[in-house]
Amino acid sequence: MILVTGGAGFIGSNFILDWFSQSDEPVINFDKLTYAGNLNNLSALGQDLRHVFVQGDICDTAHVASLLATHAPRAIVHFAAESHVDRSIHGPADFIATNVNGTFSLLEAARAYWSGLRDADRAAFRFLHVSTDEVYGSLGPDDAPFRETTPYAPNSPYSASKAASDHLVRAYHHTYGLPVLTTNCSNNYGPYHFPEKLIPLIIANALDGKPLPIYGDGQNMRDWLYVSDHCAAIRRVLVDGRPGETYNIGGWNEKTNLDVVQTLCDILNALAPRADAANYRNQITFVQDRPGHDRRYAIDARKIEQELGWRPAETFESGIRKTVRWYLDNQDWVRDVQSGAYLKWVEKNYGNRQHNER
Ligand code: NAD
Ligand code: DAU
Repeated sequence: MILVTGGAGFIGSNFILDWFSQSDEPVINFDKLTYAGNLNNLSALGQDLRHVFVQGDICDTAHVASLLATHAPRAIVHFAAESHVDRSIHGPADFIATNVNGTFSLLEAARAYWSGLRDADRAAFRFLHVSTDEVYGSLGPDDAPFRETTPYAPNSPYSASKAASDHLVRAYHHTYGLPVLTTNCSNNYGPYHFPEKLIPLIIANALDGKPLPIYGDGQNMRDWLYVSDHCAAIRRVLVDGRPGETYNIGGWNEKTNLDVVQTLCDILNALAPRADAANYRNQITFVQDRPGHDRRYAIDARKIEQELGWRPAETFESGIRKTVRWYLDNQDWVRDVQSGAYLKWVEKNYGNRQHNER
């Protein structure tokens, strides 16, 4: 049994689906169900008994402690976070609460649980912290990609909160010996990506005939990784990663935002042409830049490739086509998110009873 936090979000839900395609080992999915948590992402599991969902907040150390005592997982994979940079600019408090204090609370519960395990179980236990390349700050055009040794220089409240959580995780290994692993990954994309993020937002707006907003001059660069490749990397790190180490994960796919948006328009022109046959590119609109907008991220993923033998299976070209196809085939999922209907999941499935195991 493993405990996954944030398993109703974009990457967490992909991770759980991916996990059960490879393994019968049960998963406890501990998620607060904020606006970003959507249990419809896991509807393919139906009533699968391998998946135990528990609604709760990682800031609630007592709740996490009782879950750990009841289910005795061999590992924690920690996805739960506030994840959207723009939201962190408008309202940083939730980012500090969940990403910093929440990770601290989780570490405290994990440390108490882990110290009480028998020797063999203590040695085998893992706390895998899922983090971001944004902690390294912004690169210039000629700078080498981020390595695991690149100094931290976070620039947004989001990345600062993730950097703080990475430091806490590191300290729990250094000070208490907790067997932690940290992964720092680049921009994910794929199914169940919440349509406030660039790629799903552009697809949804294009199909709705709305403007396609590009911040600033559109020349900011991101490295893009298909989400199932990230999930596979996390599985590799969980099995063979060395406790106390960090692993950068990336797709070797640096693109400007303008490139990404134009590519999406071109795929949509082919797969879902507008009724008036106009080019989706005509909807592109340059808008005011994000404050403090990092110019460029790039990941050097050689450590995980060389030590653990992981490599992405998708290229950007294959992954982005799959992604557009998925959104075209799953318009109901998008409408549900846009209307807020997905937030009714717990009421719909459990009535007014909270599904809390205490
Ligand atoms: P997301 O916003 O889609 O999902 C976050 C999930 O965490 C949601 O289900 C939400 O309900 C849950 N959550 C939030 N606060 C919680 C709390 N206090 N207690 C319990 N659950 C809570 O995020 P995502 O894009 O899936 O990202 C997952 C993790 O991966 C995050 O830690 C993020 O920093 C990291 N990451 C994301 C990307 C990316 O491109 N999306 C890249 C690298 C790293
Ligand atoms: O690098 C990893 C990070 O990637 C993760 O840690 C974050 O959780 C995740 O949200 C993502 O952060 P970004 O800020 O890079 O993602 P976002 O989709 O918000 O933006 C991608 C780029 O597109 C960024 O340069 C800003 C730009 N953008 C974004 C939006 C929403 C636009 O130009 N227009 C938009 O409307």
